[in-house]
Amino acid sequence: MQISKVGVIGAGTMGSSIAVALIGRGYPVVLKDVDEDTVRAGLGRVDRLLDSRVRKGLPPAEAEAMRALVQPATDYSAFPDLDLVIEAVAESIDVKRRVFEELDGCCNVHAILATNTSSLPITRIASFTRRPDKVVGMHFFNPAHLMKLLEIVPGLDTAPTTVRTAIEFGQKLGKLAIRVEECPSFLVNRLLARYMNEALWCLQDGVAGVEQIDQAACDFVVPVGPLALRDMNGADIGLAVARFNHQEYGERFRPPAVLEEMVKQNLLGQKTGGGFYQYDPQTRKRSGPNPAIEQLIQKVGTPAPGAEPFAVERLFLPMINEAFLALQEKVCEAEDLDPALMAGLGMRKGPLALAAEIGLSECLGAIESLFERHGERFRPAPLLKRYVWARRTAVV
Ligand SMILES: NC(=O)c1ccc[n+]([C@@H]2O[C@H](COP(=O)([O-])OP(=O)(O)OC[C@H]3O[C@@H](n4cnc5c(N)ncnc54)[C@H](O)[C@@H]3O)[C@@H](O)[C@H]2O)c1
Repeated sequence: MQISKVGVIGAGTMGSSIAVALIGRGYPVVLKDVDEDTVRAGLGRVDRLLDSRVRKGLPPAEAEAMRALVQPATDYSAFPDLDLVIEAVAESIDVKRRVFEELDGCCNVHAILATNTSSLPITRIASFTRRPDKVVGMHFFNPAHLMKLLEIVPGLDTAPTTVRTAIEFGQKLGKLAIRVEECPSFLVNRLLARYMNEALWCLQDGVAGVEQIDQAACDFVVPVGPLALRDMNGADIGLAVARFNHQEYGERFRPPAVLEEMVKQNLLGQKTGGGFYQYDPQTRKRSGPNPAIEQLIQKVGTPAPGAEPFAVERLFLPMINEAFLALQEKVCEAEDLDPALMAGLGMRKGPLALAAEIGLSECLGAIESLFERHGERFRPAPLLKRYVWARRTAVV
């Protein structure tokens, strides 16, 4: 199916950067929000993103032509002409219900309705319409105009042609558009959550300090350490996501107490000037580790008896184990998994490549001994065991 004109609902952080991704490839966009003020704020974000491109060398006339492709809207009058609508409103099932009911009522029957939800079930959102075959998850990463990854998530009744169109459209935007089956947090955020939590457990258990964890992770394979990343995204958002995953997946996703305590003490990260590190409130520039975290660990820390040495692999073993669980559930094709993690998180190598490098048998051995010590969050994935029994040395 040909996509010529696209709508974006919600002109917030994601909606405005999705609009820039679209106009950057020449697609006219109707950008809708609830009222004049919020649309204006969204257009202001679009302008700032385009200005920053101009500073990096985009000819001003091209930026102007791109800007002219955005048609602001506070109602649905332009929507019957659209082929695809990407919803990026607040992460609330009630808000999404209202929006999808309205879209279903005003869009052409051929139009695809996509949602950028990070966590809500696509099948549930599709059920708010009379066209569940045309509803699909298009999960962009922040900032959407720069991040390469796009997870395409079908619901139970999404038609194959809808999935194909969404993937092809994602590719036209220059994205790595990967099909991911519906599961809580989808693929990349699910695997990310296991690694982020483990960094907190290492800290809480007194196995390693803040800077040691971040430095080791960066030296190993990521561009930003997990604790610095938590400060960027905010401990409050982190706790909400962690609670959601814990509720959906159970014990292995249990958030450590240190995260709850940080939220209680308003140590949210960059936005409050202090999280794991301290920040200048104006520039958000990092000045050093936050002494408040030392005190917090003394309060809620759970040091294990007997010193436990820190090895950077410990941070990534839960991610590797979760990768095998995801493959076992056929959440994605094995060859898509590492590219998705690399594009979504900027990792220099994906978890399957890391597993092969460490050795699948060594990974399993390390996971088994951590399982004995720490329990459920290290229960080995059955598929990893099968690979080891079969003497495989790599997955792809
Ligand atoms: N922020 C991220 O890093 C990120 C990444 C991936 C996905 N997401 C998902 O994207 C969605 C949007 O997140 P965000 O961070 O851009 O939120 P945001 O709060 O910045 O923006 C949401 C916008 O939607 C508008 N809105 C609310 N109800 C509306 C309606 N009925 N019609 C039109 N506009 C409406 C709001 O006024 C606001 O401008 C959420 O589902 C979120 O889970 C966010």
